[in-house]
Amino acid sequence: MRDCAPRPPFSAIRARQTSCNSRGDRQPRAAAREVGPASREARRQEETSAMFGKIKMNNLKDLYVDELKDAYDFEHRILEALPKMEQSADADELKQAFREHRTQTENQVRRLEQVFREIGEEPSRKTCKGMKGLIEEGEEYVKARGDSDTIDAALISAAQRVEHYEMAVYGTLRTYAEVLGHTSQASLLQENLDEEAQTDDKLTRLAESGINVEAASGRR
Ligand SMILES: [Fe+2]
Ligand SMILES: [Fe+2]
Repeated sequence: MRDCAPRPPFSAIRARQTSCNSRGDRQPRAAAREVGPASREARRQEETSAMFGKIKMNNLKDLYVDELKDAYDFEHRILEALPKMEQSADADELKQAFREHRTQTENQVRRLEQVFREIGEEPSRKTCKGMKGLIEEGEEYVKARGDSDTIDAALISAAQRVEHYEMAVYGTLRTYAEVLGHTSQASLLQENLDEEAQTDDKLTRLAESGINVEAASGRR
């Protein structure tokens, strides 16, 4: 049977309707009726800032620069941490590995500065919370007391976690640079990635060729 009750005007019905955007946030459909490039852009920026807080993140270039700042920060933190790792290590080969990686890290910082220059940005740091945590964990091993082989194995473990984190970041940054058409920047970032991978391999060899085995028989 047909409902003959008076119906609200059509515009009132539309104003009450809601829809879900791609992230599932409910929003009044009325807002979607604002058309034109300016309002669409304003709305997109609003959604972006709601999602990422204060970070400007409107395109891949923004993301690229943000992650470069993160890398610039973690390389400086690693520069400070490596001498402590070297000092705490017992095996000469491990001390040498940390020393050599410090020199590589200085070059990595310079390559990042070159990348910043090429995109017209001032090199700057953004706190890398992930690396901060990894280094804090590593410092527990730096301060540890006990069997020297076991502490060396622990330092290798901490250092490899750092290397893997760096490799993940440089792989991503290199890919962003390629997508953005920055070929020379992609090469610089690939050089950093290669050095991290070489260091990781070197640490694996040191662990497998003796340090882990020595640690297994450590102190009883
Ligand atoms: Fe590095
Ligand atoms: Fe590294």
